[in-house]
Amino acid sequence: MSQIDEIKSALDIVQVVSETVDLDTRSRTPKANCPFHAERTPSFVVFPETGTWRCFGACATGGDVISFIQKRDELDFRGALQAAAQRAGIELDNRPREKQESISPLIAANEIALGYFWTQLRGASGEDARAYLEGRGIDNDTARRRDLGLAPNGMDTLAGYLKSTGTPGSAAAGAGLVVQTSDGGWRDMFKGRLTIAIRDAEGRVVGFGGRSLDGSDPKYLNTASTEIFDKSRLLYGLHWAAKAIRSSRQAIVVEGYMDVITAQEAGFENVVASMGTAITAEQVGLLTGMTDTVVLALDSDAAGQEATLNSLETVWGAFATRGEPGAGRRTGSVEIKIARLDSGKDPDEVIRNSPNEWQEAIDGAAPLLEWLIAAYARRFDANSPEGKKQITEALFPLIAAVGNPYEQDRYLTTLAETLSVSIEQLRASAGQLRSTRRRTARRPAGLQAPPGTSATADRVPEYTSTTAIEEHLLGLVFAHEDLREYASDLDDAVFEDATNRNLFTTWKASTSLDELRNAIPPDLGQRLDRISDKPLPPADQPTRVADISECVRRLLERHLRLLKSQEERILKEIGAGDEPNDAKGLVENSALETNERLRQLFARQR
Ligand code: UTP
Ligand code: MN
Repeated sequence: MSQIDEIKSALDIVQVVSETVDLDTRSRTPKANCPFHAERTPSFVVFPETGTWRCFGACATGGDVISFIQKRDELDFRGALQAAAQRAGIELDNRPREKQESISPLIAANEIALGYFWTQLRGASGEDARAYLEGRGIDNDTARRRDLGLAPNGMDTLAGYLKSTGTPGSAAAGAGLVVQTSDGGWRDMFKGRLTIAIRDAEGRVVGFGGRSLDGSDPKYLNTASTEIFDKSRLLYGLHWAAKAIRSSRQAIVVEGYMDVITAQEAGFENVVASMGTAITAEQVGLLTGMTDTVVLALDSDAAGQEATLNSLETVWGAFATRGEPGAGRRTGSVEIKIARLDSGKDPDEVIRNSPNEWQEAIDGAAPLLEWLIAAYARRFDANSPEGKKQITEALFPLIAAVGNPYEQDRYLTTLAETLSVSIEQLRASAGQLRSTRRRTARRPAGLQAPPGTSATADRVPEYTSTTAIEEHLLGLVFAHEDLREYASDLDDAVFEDATNRNLFTTWKASTSLDELRNAIPPDLGQRLDRISDKPLPPADQPTRVADISECVRRLLERHLRLLKSQEERILKEIGAGDEPNDAKGLVENSALETNERLRQLFARQR
């Protein structure tokens, strides 16, 4: 939690506002005459749950507790933060920013290691490894192109080589290339293994996979988790595949490094690998801006596994709930499909034996939920009453979360057919389920639940949080000054996260990243660093413009929906009073305006 968040959560907004404003706290949303302009009907509202306030009257603004103090005491953000911190009894961290250890030495160490491994593969000690590769149909050029190499078994060590190049031990260790032994010396992480360099989306070498050549376990040893290597947030081969994924609007995810290499070499360029673990929502998230469809190619072993099922459910919960009527297609969502390969074959083999068979498997991929229905039907006995119950219990929450009612109906029909029950029977038992499970409660009509509040909320990972969009937008404008014009009109209020909002405000007022860096306090500096260190997928200018426009649109949509829900709530509370000039009128006007803005937002999208 950032210091700003800490301060905000330590303060009770109702209490802070009450110090100077005569709040009527009888309803869940306390109201008052707005302290920031003269008025006679209370149009100033505090929302305790979200810690925000809003004036529906002449000011037509709102914010959080810090912006309230800022406006009330006429302070700048820093001053307001200081005041808020003091009031919360939190000491603001004003120390100059410790020079953040940059990640580039780790990448540099990896690049050196890549060169070393390659030299070893070509050298005298590489004979067996070369024969192994040849046996797998990988020639010299391919090995080079695909960043393969050899960590030899003999006396020659990478540790020694790194030292000879002047690479600091901290970088070698930080990159996970060497590990300290109990006697204080350094040992190579990879020994006697074929090495596969793993690059991030930007093409930087962030880690290695090392394949055993003599059948010893584990088959693959991977770089341990480091500052730059997080398996769950990487897709192997994405830097090769990005362009093809964008142009084909399809990404294919396989499991193995070797599968990607074979696919790439065979001209299937939109293929990436999930790094051995069952696919994570973060990994799918890496793809959402680039493609409409993600096809997961599972071999039949994996397809039967519990872990696969679990992870696919999670992925489904995070990405497949969309199509709420009236809400438009939720952008950033992708259709996820499953391609099943014949038993015992992985993509490497299928592609080598028959590219056609591979293409057919991809073309014949089934929608994820359809596949989940079939998978559960295999897992439990669809003929016994007990099995039917288990299957329904597992699948109903997933089906209930499908936004589009027609689509939902289609899945219900499939499930009914699978279980050989009538759709009425299924609905009845589903109805029971629904009433016993609060989690699956429907959302208010017309309101798209933010990811994380859907029926599968407890399994939806952090990634889909909307602050990720805020940070992506900031990352784009920080990296590309030419994108400024696409974001500079955006209202600061659309940023929900106070740190991001403040960074954005300061960015708007500055003319370059350096100027911004100099203008901000340390805590914002840390966020700035984190955001600008985060690699962006390689993209040309038009793609970047599309990307940022999409971020702007999503933030605006979220903001307008929030306003709308606040307005609806207040209108309900205010009830039926109908004097023309009262608070109700103000909120109604505000609601009309919000609706109009939402309408325009959707109109522009078409
Ligand atoms: P596979 O065993 O299918 O690997 O595991 P593969 O790439 O097809 O390798 P070959 O063809 O046998 O050489 C799939 C992925 O799971 C991870 C690796 O990312 C591998 O590519 N894995 C597998 C590990 O991380 N460790 C292991 O011990 C095994
Ligand atoms: Mn394989």
